[in-house]
Amino acid sequence: MTDSTVFPDGFLWGGATAANQVEGAYDQGGKGLSVQDVMPQGIVGPRTAVPTPDNLKHEAIDFYHRYAEDIALFAEMGFSVYRFSIAWSRIFPKGDETEPNEEGLAFYDRVLDELEKHGIEPLVTISHYETPLHLAETYDGWVSRELIGFYERYARTLFERYGSRVKYWLTFNEINSLPHAPFMSGGINTPKEQLTDQQLFQAMHHELVASALATKVAREVAPQAQIGCMVLAMPTYPLTPDPADMLAVMDADHGNFVFGDVHTRGEYPGYFLRTLRERGIDLDITDEDRELLTNTVDFVSFSYYMSIAETADPAKRVAGEGNIMGGVPNPTLEVSEWGWAIDPVGLRIVLNQFWDRWQKPLFIVENGLGAKDQLVEVDGRKTVIDDYRIAYLNDHLVQVGEALSDGVDVLGYTSWGCIDIVSASTAQLSKRYGFVYVDRNDDGSGTLERFRKKSFDWYGDVIRSNGATL
Ligand code: BG6
Repeated sequence: MTDSTVFPDGFLWGGATAANQVEGAYDQGGKGLSVQDVMPQGIVGPRTAVPTPDNLKHEAIDFYHRYAEDIALFAEMGFSVYRFSIAWSRIFPKGDETEPNEEGLAFYDRVLDELEKHGIEPLVTISHYETPLHLAETYDGWVSRELIGFYERYARTLFERYGSRVKYWLTFNEINSLPHAPFMSGGINTPKEQLTDQQLFQAMHHELVASALATKVAREVAPQAQIGCMVLAMPTYPLTPDPADMLAVMDADHGNFVFGDVHTRGEYPGYFLRTLRERGIDLDITDEDRELLTNTVDFVSFSYYMSIAETADPAKRVAGEGNIMGGVPNPTLEVSEWGWAIDPVGLRIVLNQFWDRWQKPLFIVENGLGAKDQLVEVDGRKTVIDDYRIAYLNDHLVQVGEALSDGVDVLGYTSWGCIDIVSASTAQLSKRYGFVYVDRNDDGSGTLERFRKKSFDWYGDVIRSNGATL
């Protein structure tokens, strides 16, 4: 049990999804293709030249047609917030048009209507791994400075249309994943192995400028909007107490922190400038860019799934199954079925780290356990007895309570994949995160029917008690 007063009144409880992982209807309503439409195997496999029928995201869980039913389920759990993303290619099918696609805009009007009906606050990700494919193939994604203008037009369109209805916005999902997944994260068509540091850092700079520009536009067009950045948080521990390992940790942290540092401080930190100098990278940063970067965010949001260890010793540098962001496995921690280290305390650590460093309100916008679920029948009702998921989420939320007691300012918590969705890294449906089971399998079979899991009732109790039942 947590201290029942630790979660403040108004703490936002809910869940999160992304358009490409739930909507389906990939070619309906005037939508153009996105990078996801040619990634049938997620980031673990190669992209295809054209969309192929084995891509589960093309139908996903059909949220495009079932959003009302799904939002009603979220409301039944008592969600006060729902994080979802807008598919860029529904609004600007190719990305470089001057006029938006009204049918796409109208779809998100309907989603917002439904949320309003249930009193659920929307939290909107502007770009969640869904760059229009045309921008990837014609401009090489964020390597090109032209993307800043296209993104500005897209963000402005959203602020103008939904600015009076949406308070919380995130500019780029896991912006610091760019070096690890350049095609999915940055729409960069050049294969990762051929990408130079110069191109990669330039793309990063363009995204950071675009994020700051969106913040500036929001201040003008939707003054009540709260703009957040979104980073993938992965606390890094030294493999041993050797100072060389601690230095390796510092370097890894810097590689991740730089994104939040720029978003919160409005300029590049010294350690990053040193990296540029030492790698001989001459970034194209204009005076206007520097000015734009001073448009800092209102809050910092992040995903948290796992921690990782670091070492300076090449002999100990083994690749673990789950460490797609680098680092080495931590021998003290258990891992999920996909090799992701389970570390609830790491969430408290990262909350304190970010708060100490940035002094901005924090929002945990992704956290959860991907696991294989078994549908069973109990008292004539189909369900999943997912005690493992309940244990994972409970342990993590207890640590959020600890961080709140530490004095960290946390706005809310949206668990990832609150309804089963298609996985981003492996494009599987069998990697399930939801409180709601969706009858769809990796081979595409299934009725798409929804079933409440045991965790559905558990989370409802947590929300209704504002964390006291943890
Ligand atoms: C985050 C992404 O990296 O992790 C999500 O923002 C993703 O899109 C989530 O789904 C979980 O990863 P996966 O690979 O298990 O879906």
